[in-house]
Amino acid sequence: PPLELFSVPLPIPPVKEPKYIVPNPETGDDIQYYEMEIQPFSEQIYPDLGLTHMVGYDGMSPGPTIIVPRGTETVVRFVNSVGNTSPNSVHLHGSFSRAPFDGWAEDTTQPGEYKDYYYPNRQAARMLWYHDHAMSITAENAYMGQAGVYLIHDPAEDALNLPSGYGEFDIPMVLTAKRYNDDGTLFSTNGELSSLFGDVIQVNGQPWPFMNVQPRKYRFRFLDAAVSRSFALHFALTDDTATDIPFQVIASDAGLLEEPVDTEVLHISMAERYEIVFDFSNFAGQSIDLLNLPSVDGLGTDTNYVNTDKVMRFIVADETEAPDTSVVPATLRDVPFPEPGSGDFDHDFVFTRTNGQWTINGIVFTDVENRLLANVPRGSVQRWRLRNPGGGWTHPIHVHLVDMRVISRSSARGVEPYEAAGLKDVVWLARQETVIVEAHFAPFPGVYMMHCHNLIHEDHDMMAAFNVSVLAD
Ligand code: C2O
Ligand code: CU
Repeated sequence: PPLELFSVPLPIPPVKEPKYIVPNPETGDDIQYYEMEIQPFSEQIYPDLGLTHMVGYDGMSPGPTIIVPRGTETVVRFVNSVGNTSPNSVHLHGSFSRAPFDGWAEDTTQPGEYKDYYYPNRQAARMLWYHDHAMSITAENAYMGQAGVYLIHDPAEDALNLPSGYGEFDIPMVLTAKRYNDDGTLFSTNGELSSLFGDVIQVNGQPWPFMNVQPRKYRFRFLDAAVSRSFALHFALTDDTATDIPFQVIASDAGLLEEPVDTEVLHISMAERYEIVFDFSNFAGQSIDLLNLPSVDGLGTDTNYVNTDKVMRFIVADETEAPDTSVVPATLRDVPFPEPGSGDFDHDFVFTRTNGQWTINGIVFTDVENRLLANVPRGSVQRWRLRNPGGGWTHPIHVHLVDMRVISRSSARGVEPYEAAGLKDVVWLARQETVIVEAHFAPFPGVYMMHCHNLIHEDHDMMAAFNVSVLAD
């Protein structure tokens, strides 16, 4: 594509302000009320081509960022102003939302309608994201723009003095991979039956951007919001891309890790979040590239293209504007790991391609009679075994409602240190891997979804339901 790499600055999604704040009549605490409109918009992405037409929250992609303090409830009215026939459903990924507000795929809002979603925000500080979840069109809706960041912060995390200031030293990094038509429009995912890897790597909606940074520490919050592409992220000097520069992973899907994990390569698959601190202080006046190992380091099955090994560039200033007083403490928090369940595993799920469809235990989500694959007593801790026997596919598995501890992985890489140090709501099942996870099925009862987060697999129809049931005494 006729696009100069690293020539446009990294956009930062704006912070969404509540429309009003009212007290909860029972608790007296604030409830923030937001309104977001799902709207078509056009943007000049390729200088020499036509406009790119998208549909996004408040007419932008990524959507605006919602930032809430832990314990402040929110109601978000999502208005479908798409104008054609496209329904939507909104899932706040990583939130323990009650089932009616969890973005159930068939609970769609039609053009001209709205739905108010209630979110408790009682979880510890973490990076959530909101995205479309409508039946069979999630891939197309999310890919055309319906995805945004939602941050919960809390006093415990704020007290650590990590690099802070949204958009200043605390930077959201929404990774996607897209494919464009010759006229500048996006190539549709609609005809795809297995994956759309995309040859254009974007961060916060911008292909291969750059960012001017100071020689100090930054917190980068990565989210892989791509339809099908996994990444193996690493940093190197522009002039010496063969030598990786180490960094610290501080948080994952469910917030801070127990302690920072040093690494040189970070594996991130679809819907996963990893937050890192990168220290530019030794690189004043230099330029550093964020890169992606081809073939995701042997784990992924992604198609590589000419520039998919590059993500973005950081131009480091000669000096800081003010001294960097932020720190990365040796201990970050006590992660609420569940008490171990009993036995090897309570449920066994196998993710395969069967007769041209993507299935879980041979079932597809459209098989309404059979798609409820597990009944789980509310409050119980269960171990689930997840298996991907295929050699050709990667399946990042997302279980709604819960945070999972990754107990074991069968392949040579084992459980990554940055997976083990925290809790996850998505776990990457690379080819031929078997992973055992453990979760506390709480706080709410209800029927929730679990699925592959390759959005094309999800739409066709690698998704199932589980029921968190209220225990009879
Ligand atoms: Cu991020 Cu069920 O989805
Ligand atoms: Cu999959």
